[in-house]
This record gives sequence, structure tokens and C-alpha cells, in this order.
Amino acid sequence: MKHLPGRHNVLFRNYEFVSKFIRKNLDKHKADLDSSNPQCYMDSFLIEKENSHGPVEGFTEDNLVCCTLDLFTAGTETTSTTLRWALLYLIKHPEIQDKVQEEIDRVTGQTRQPCMAARPNLPYTEAVLHEVQRRGDIVPLNRARMAGKDTTLAGYFIPKGTMLMPILHSVLFDETEWETPNSFNPEHFLDKEGKFVRRDAFLPFSAGKRVCLGEQLAKMELFLFFVGLFQKFRFSAVEGAQLSTERVVGVTLTPQPFKIYVKAR
Ligand code: HEM
Repeated sequence: MKHLPGRHNVLFRNYEFVSKFIRKNLDKHKADLDSSNPQCYMDSFLIEKENSHGPVEGFTEDNLVCCTLDLFTAGTETTSTTLRWALLYLIKHPEIQDKVQEEIDRVTGQTRQPCMAARPNLPYTEAVLHEVQRRGDIVPLNRARMAGKDTTLAGYFIPKGTMLMPILHSVLFDETEWETPNSFNPEHFLDKEGKFVRRDAFLPFSAGKRVCLGEQLAKMELFLFFVGLFQKFRFSAVEGAQLSTERVVGVTLTPQPFKIYVKAR
């Protein structure tokens, strides 16, 4: 593939660049390793590598680089893309931005740092963030999986070895699950008293044994960044600019690049 011209070469180049960066860091961790006091994922992996029975268990340096890269790729674009959708939807719906800011001001105030303990007291904000993830639908096709054994599901026989794509888009936009699947509507996650409600069809992180490994971390990151941003700033469109919610198809579904006006509150 590398001999053919095309954009995949950018991907290979970037992959090489990040791998080198990780390898450089790995060398530092190897030099400073204190087995009785691991500081991070790399340290723990290196200690496990010492105690394991060699490459057969997967504890090799190449694998460590791959796994670290996996965490970077899976964990950075996803959360930043979701936050970009959040900015876009709240600019397009200033009345929702008003309500979020009113709730944050009332519960957290303007000076206190956002913290996870405040989450149960911010039901509207929580509902908006969930709706951003539902409507943003950033991993619509999920990831390909393979049936580990012969399986019958909903009357369909799936032989061992079949490749499966459990499509998340269909559940996030299911007309039998959501009142207004195609609209940006935080009420999907609120009851009549304005309390936050969980919905079974909210599956942006997928489900089952191979559910997103970073789900809990991502939820925390999203909440803290989202509250922090809307606590301190008012976001609006640049005068005359039309913001589009058309999606760009890539590793994740992202919004088109957009410029916004940010004002300190
Ligand atoms: C908004 C944020 C995120 C979304 C929407 C998301 C979504 C997903 C989805 C749909 C999958 C596929 C699950 C499946 O195959 O059934 C996945 C897998 C994965 N995610 Fe996330 N993710 C997010 C953030 C993160 C973060 C922050 C990390 C780690 C730092 C992470 C690490 C991973 C890993 C390692 C896998 C592969 C798990 C496996 O194959 O067992 N993700 N994610």
C-alpha cells in the first residue's frame, strides 16, 4: 500500500510519528522504572512483562507501543469531536445554552471548579450532554466484530467466524425508542419533573464485553470540559456565518470545520 499514492500515506506517516513519540517515552520509563512504585500504564505493563512468560502472553514492547497508541487514538479524537458537536448544537440552540448556563451558575457558580460530585445536581446539563452524544452519533458503524461461536440471535443463525457490524446509528436514531430521533432534543433524557432519566437505547459507547474501555473516563472528561467551558464562556456564531450540522465521514463523524465567537462571561 505504501507504494501507491493516496491519502492513506498520511495515515501511515502519522502512525509512524506517534509510534516514535511513544517509543521515546517508553525508553524513559524503562530507565526510571521502580517496580515497587509504578506510576502509569507503561510502568505497570513493563512490570507485568518481567513477570510474564514471554511474548506468548502478549507482553512485548511492540505490543505496549500498539496498546498505548490505541488508547491515544481511541481516547482523543472521540472526546474532542463530541465537544465540537456540543459547541455547535448549543450555538444553534441559544435557548438551550441559556438553560445550561443558568443551571451551572445556580449549582456550581462562576468561580468554583467543576467537579464530578456536582453531576447529580445538574440534570439539565447532563441531559444536554447525553443528547449531544446521541445526536452526534460519532461512531455510527461501531467496530467490526467476529462471532466466536455459532449463535442464533432474534431467529437469525450466525455461524462462527461471521464478521458483524453492530451498527450504533440504528439504535441512537430508532424511531421506536426516541420521541424525536432526528431533532436535537435534551427532553429525551428528562422526565416531567426535569429529572435526568437514563435510556436503554443510549449506546454511543456500544455494549457487552467489548464495550468502550474508556467509557467512564470519557464521561468524566466530557462532563468536566463541558461544564468548564459553558461556565466561563458564551459561544455564538461569527456574524453572517451559517453553521452546518452536515457530518464529515472519517474515523469518527465530525462536524465541518467552523469558526465561532467566544466571549468571557
Ligand atoms: C466520547 C467518547 C468515546 C466514544 C463515543 C467511544 C466509543 C467507542 C466505541 C463505540 C467502541 C467500540 C466498542 C465495540 O466494539 O463494541 C470503543 C472502543 C474502545 N474505546 Fe472508546 N469511545 C470514547 C472514548 C474513549 C476513551 C477516552 C478511551 C480511552 C482512553 C477509549 C478507549 C477505547 C478502547 C481501548 C476501545 C476498544 C475496546 C475493545 O476492543 O475491547 N474510548 N469506543
